[in-house]
Amino acid sequence: MDRFLITGGAPLKGTVRIAGAKNATLPIMAASLLCPGTCEIHEVPDLRDVRVMCEILKLMGAKVEAGKGYCRIDAASVAACEVPENLMREMRSSIFIMGALLGRLGKVKVSYPGGCAIGPRPIDLHLKGLSALGAKITEKHGYVLAEGPALRGSDVHLDFPSVGATENIMMAAVKAQGVTVIRNAAKEPEVVDLQNFLNKMGAKIRGAGTDTIKIEGVSDLYPTSHSVIPDRIEAGTFMLAAAMTQGDVHLENVIAEHTEPVAAKLRETGAEVVSSGEGIYVTARRRLQAVDIKTLPYPGYPTDMQPQTMAMLSVAEGTSVAIENIFVNRFKHVDELRRMGAQINIEGRAAVIRGVERLSGACVEASDLRAGVALVLAGLVADGQTVLENVYHIDRGYEALEEKLRRLGAQVQRLKESR
Ligand code: UD1
Repeated sequence: MDRFLITGGAPLKGTVRIAGAKNATLPIMAASLLCPGTCEIHEVPDLRDVRVMCEILKLMGAKVEAGKGYCRIDAASVAACEVPENLMREMRSSIFIMGALLGRLGKVKVSYPGGCAIGPRPIDLHLKGLSALGAKITEKHGYVLAEGPALRGSDVHLDFPSVGATENIMMAAVKAQGVTVIRNAAKEPEVVDLQNFLNKMGAKIRGAGTDTIKIEGVSDLYPTSHSVIPDRIEAGTFMLAAAMTQGDVHLENVIAEHTEPVAAKLRETGAEVVSSGEGIYVTARRRLQAVDIKTLPYPGYPTDMQPQTMAMLSVAEGTSVAIENIFVNRFKHVDELRRMGAQINIEGRAAVIRGVERLSGACVEASDLRAGVALVLAGLVADGQTVLENVYHIDRGYEALEEKLRRLGAQVQRLKESR
């Protein structure tokens, strides 16, 4: 497995272009199965998760052509409705296939996703929503079978505004008979992007971005093309990297409103964050101040930025508290940050971070995507060299991370696995 060799110390300077959002691309790719024609998706990031989704779509019978920044999905002859277990394990987001295939074929079988590095990831809310639409759910031998040849619109109240459950229910409801209302729906920008894509296909959805989404079932959907929104988590990661290295970075292809939860927190640390028509500028001229964060559903502070933020606060002046409210076990990066000299104590859902002047390079391991990139950020402000193992986690969600960082002046090298 590839490793990163990072030599810390350089302030990041220059311009970086943010890629299309992974978390918008994956459900939109799955949603293209709903339409018996060819959809074209642009601003598709080149990521391992996207390649896995391409494989899944092909196995379902779609023809997929993927090029630089786009993919074309011809779902005319989709017939298979079972996702192999190895692909479900490879990528948890393959769960999106459920709503799309149920809507298209009236039947879908997936293996039950188990726990993962950031804690248990149940799908009870997805299943409750799908069964409210009339799907019959059978759970046996680690598989979930959902059958609903004639779904009917219904009222669904989510106990928690789950992003994946909201998206799955939207996809299943698009062709159901009658009106579906999802209450306490997730308000994340990626849900809005999915709504926009589905409406371009002929769906009738309103309300995404608020906590109530209304879907009026339609009988036919048509091919369309769509450009995916910029990745607010990739943007947030570069914003933090700029600030903590006391750099000066211009981010292109960003939607400032989507990054505002991170921008507001960065301003509290003393960094300058300015957005203009051309993007976002992040500058820090001195050591950042400690701040507290609390992860919450959008527009709260994103859980997907929590590990990177802890890396940043590890070198801030003063003591910070980070509270993780979304995933129960999302502190796997802490032991690795400690190896680099960070002073962090965990108490339940809270982490207390006592900022140190500098971290020190060490050999560390990525346990998941965001934990991995947090260690890259730590490496950028560490004395000496950091070797980061298991970079494949980062490849799931960051396009050419080391190249983008190098163009900003960082010293990051990929060491290819020698066979
Ligand atoms: C999505 C994002 C992920 C992000 C997360 C929270 C994608 C592909 N992934 O994941 O990057 O970290 O939103 O912003 O978009 N839950 C249940 N039952 C369910 C579903 C969820 O209890 O049926 C719980 C989860 O365990 C978790 C919380 O709800 O504690 C939030 O999960 P959810 O919003 O569903 O996250 P994902 O859609 O999996």
